[in-house]
Amino acid sequence: MTRFSRWALACVVVAAAVLAALGWISLRQWERSAEVVVREQARDMAAMAAEKIEMLLRGAPEDAVARLRAAAGEAGPAALEAAIAARPIREVLEKTLGGLEAPTIAALLDPQNRTVYAREPLGEAQRLASARLREGLPGWQVALYQPPGFSPHQTVRRQVMLFTFALGVLLVVILAGSVTTYRLMRRESEVARLKADFVANVSHDLKTPLSVIRMFGETLEMGRVTDQATRDEYYRIITRESERLSRLIDNVLDFSRIEGGRRTYERARAPVEPLVRESLEPFAYPLAQGGFKVEADIAADLPDVMMDTAAVGQALSNLIDNAIKYSGARKAVRVSASMVGGELALAVADEGIGIPPAEHARIFEKFYRVGRSDTQGRRGSGVGLALVRHVAEAHGGRVTVESRPGEGSRFTIFLPVR
Ligand SMILES: Nc1ncnc2c1ncn2[C@@H]1O[C@H](COP(=O)(O)OP(=O)(O)OP(=O)(O)O)[C@@H](O)[C@H]1O
Ligand SMILES: [Mg+2]
Repeated sequence: MTRFSRWALACVVVAAAVLAALGWISLRQWERSAEVVVREQARDMAAMAAEKIEMLLRGAPEDAVARLRAAAGEAGPAALEAAIAARPIREVLEKTLGGLEAPTIAALLDPQNRTVYAREPLGEAQRLASARLREGLPGWQVALYQPPGFSPHQTVRRQVMLFTFALGVLLVVILAGSVTTYRLMRRESEVARLKADFVANVSHDLKTPLSVIRMFGETLEMGRVTDQATRDEYYRIITRESERLSRLIDNVLDFSRIEGGRRTYERARAPVEPLVRESLEPFAYPLAQGGFKVEADIAADLPDVMMDTAAVGQALSNLIDNAIKYSGARKAVRVSASMVGGELALAVADEGIGIPPAEHARIFEKFYRVGRSDTQGRRGSGVGLALVRHVAEAHGGRVTVESRPGEGSRFTIFLPVR
């Protein structure tokens, strides 16, 4: 799966790179050909203007044209200006060169290449093309100019830049999309792996108490145990293991209800103290067996709280179960209930193996277990804390963790009182 997605990502990146290269090459070609086209157009336009001037000059008074021709041969520009200013000539030029499309500027040049007429000052304008006049004013030229910023090169450049930008945006979008897809796929495959662990862990957890129950049941059935005290002990073990079994099944069932969005809570005002005591009760035997120091610290006159007692009890059981399960040599469990800042705080603390700070957020995710499947040899399905969080949040509260590796952990459920 991840091999496949890595391949897919590589393909997308390569495709995007090829697209970028092709886009760049075709933009360069387009830039070059566009420039050629613009120049050709300018040449045609200049030739047409020249023809038109020739045509109109044929209809103009012969003496005005002759004066213009003569003025070009002289040194001083004054005569030239006067000749140009003559009404028939002015009209011809304005009709032909004055009406050209902006931003192109058309100009008439005399045989000495002096600009005789231009619609507007040429300034820094760059010459695009020119065409020679044959009749009427032989040796004269019509030239087309582009003002700065409007040269074909710059115009095309602007468009190329625009396209390059669009291409860049496209590539970024493609890359972002692939990275997101890749991340999603990785996450999916991680969840799939965790789910497989989950199934294995749950099966194992179901099997252990079942085989204990079966073994002690069979022993009792055979009637070989004659000593009443031993028999009582076996009955207690069977009861305890059945309780463990139902707790586990409740956990898994509730988890699947939460996942399917079908978990509902029935809240009613209820006292806190019995809830805490009843949650601790099923653990009395394992706590005593393990040699745990147990403390229950329930503040006096706690108000009754709006809650689903069964759900909050289950959440507490999960925290107590973890405290027992993740304890090392120092065996101590402390359960407390108190008011903190107007909220009810139900805390379960241990002096066990603790949790590295980097894992504090993740342990509340479904299936997540520190160090994956076997947290130092302790089995579990990884849904306990996900359930605790769901219960707390469904009550408008939250759950927090304070923990340091090797020192112990303290989980606190905060519930609003009303
Ligand atoms: N009191 C604790 N001390 C140290 N680590 C803890 C403690 N509580 C939880 N953890 C870590 O957080 C992980 C998630 O806990 P969670 O209760 O959700 O799952 P679990 O105990 O592994 O399985 P289960 O669903 O059977 O409870 C545990 O696997 C463990 O690594
Ligand atoms: Mg647990």
